[in-house]
Amino acid sequence: MLALIDEHRTSDTIALDPDQLRPSPFSLTVYGDPSEEVEDLIASIHEHGILVPLVVAPGSEPETWEVISGHRRLASARAIGMTEVPCQVRSIPEGEARQAAVLEYNRQRRKTFSQLMREADALEQLWGAQANARRRANLLGSDRAECRNSDDRAAGAGRTDAAIARHLGLGGKDLYRQARTLWRMAASGDARAQSGVAQIDRGTRTIHAAYKDLRRRDRFGSDFRPTPYDVWAFRHDRAFGIPHPGSIPPALVAHTLHYFTTPGALVVDPMAGGGTTLDVCQSMGRRCLAYDLHPVRPEIHPHDVRLGIPPEAHGADLIFCDPPYHTMLAAQYAPDSVATASLNGWMEFLHDLARHAFEALRPGGYLALLLAAQTEKDIPAGFGYIDHAFLGYEAARQAGFLPERRISCPMDGAYLPQHVRRARTEGRLLGQVRDLLVMRRPSRPMEKPPFDLASTGNRPV
Ligand SMILES: C[S@@+](CC[C@H](N)C(=O)[O-])C[C@H]1O[C@@H](n2cnc3c(N)ncnc32)[C@H](O)[C@@H]1O
Repeated sequence: MLALIDEHRTSDTIALDPDQLRPSPFSLTVYGDPSEEVEDLIASIHEHGILVPLVVAPGSEPETWEVISGHRRLASARAIGMTEVPCQVRSIPEGEARQAAVLEYNRQRRKTFSQLMREADALEQLWGAQANARRRANLLGSDRAECRNSDDRAAGAGRTDAAIARHLGLGGKDLYRQARTLWRMAASGDARAQSGVAQIDRGTRTIHAAYKDLRRRDRFGSDFRPTPYDVWAFRHDRAFGIPHPGSIPPALVAHTLHYFTTPGALVVDPMAGGGTTLDVCQSMGRRCLAYDLHPVRPEIHPHDVRLGIPPEAHGADLIFCDPPYHTMLAAQYAPDSVATASLNGWMEFLHDLARHAFEALRPGGYLALLLAAQTEKDIPAGFGYIDHAFLGYEAARQAGFLPERRISCPMDGAYLPQHVRRARTEGRLLGQVRDLLVMRRPSRPMEKPPFDLASTGNRPV
């Protein structure tokens, strides 16, 4: 390919005004906006100037040039206010040849996964078009030898996944196929695949791991084997929900759905976070309406649960609530979240939540309330801990719910190794107590309990 580029060489290095240079639209599509990644380059160009000339071809307007290689250098030169940049002019024709040249010049650059996959899209198209042209030429009986330069050999192999994987330096064809599946699902708007792509771009997940997440999505399908115990100690699983502060192990939701709903049930999550409930519902055939004050996925609708449960979610079979707790993790949530409320404000929120849930559930429907005990900070004077589950129980009872089940759900991975070491040294207990309260809206208005545990003194009434 470089031989092809050299064929188009028309000048030695000349100085051009940056105002005459236009970025290649194709390069912007594949590699994104170059001005976002030029801080280091600006410093270097400031000190040493531009050491390697840009490569340009005649632009579509007179007196302009399209940049084939050197978009980051151009962005840096503009940022510094340079009036001339060194350029080498090539007469590469517009269209496919110019796109191929852009890809070739970028071959050795360090790329994100998204940039690589956009290159793959472009290569599939370019090589596919070349292969079609060759097939047509063969049908017309033209001399096949004409096509035998190195580019055509690449193009001949280019229709295979192995050749594209090799060209991109992405490993073998199997890994490329996994990458492509993930990329296609992300392009179709799948929020979990998009999150996987973003994680690979950031270097926090491998292609293989993100692909395996996709394959585990039916983990709670027909062969789901629930635990029969009421202690649900499960681990996080990145196949469900997208990374979010306070996200929960999906098996907690799966067990709640299994024991308290039937297929087709309407499940509502008014504080959906990264969408764990949404994804588990999808894998278990439940309908789900998800809301959050600050939605992070398109399937989660913006709504403040303090205003009630939205009308379209009324008649729900189950409302799953995983609220942020009073001040815990508050720094990780938006300032208007209930996480920043005072303890009194937070308790009021719980009472409102229980009332709203009661109104929205169908008679006989369930409220599932996940609440951890607060042991670490902002504990009122004289208290060793705040029993959020107890407060939730009171709120739900006062709203009219009947207790159905209390399930122990110890927290998974809530502490970093250094926290554990420090607690050991200081002889402190680390809190992992968390409960899932499942409360039932009575089926009939007259259904009343024989006693009221929520009243002061716990005396039978
Ligand atoms: C603990 S997180 C939920 C995590 C979720 N279960 C998951 O697995 O990703 C609590 C969520 O409540 C949301 N939230 C806080 N105050 C809210 C409010 N008033 N209305 C709706 N959502 C709220 C926060 O934005 C946050 O996403």
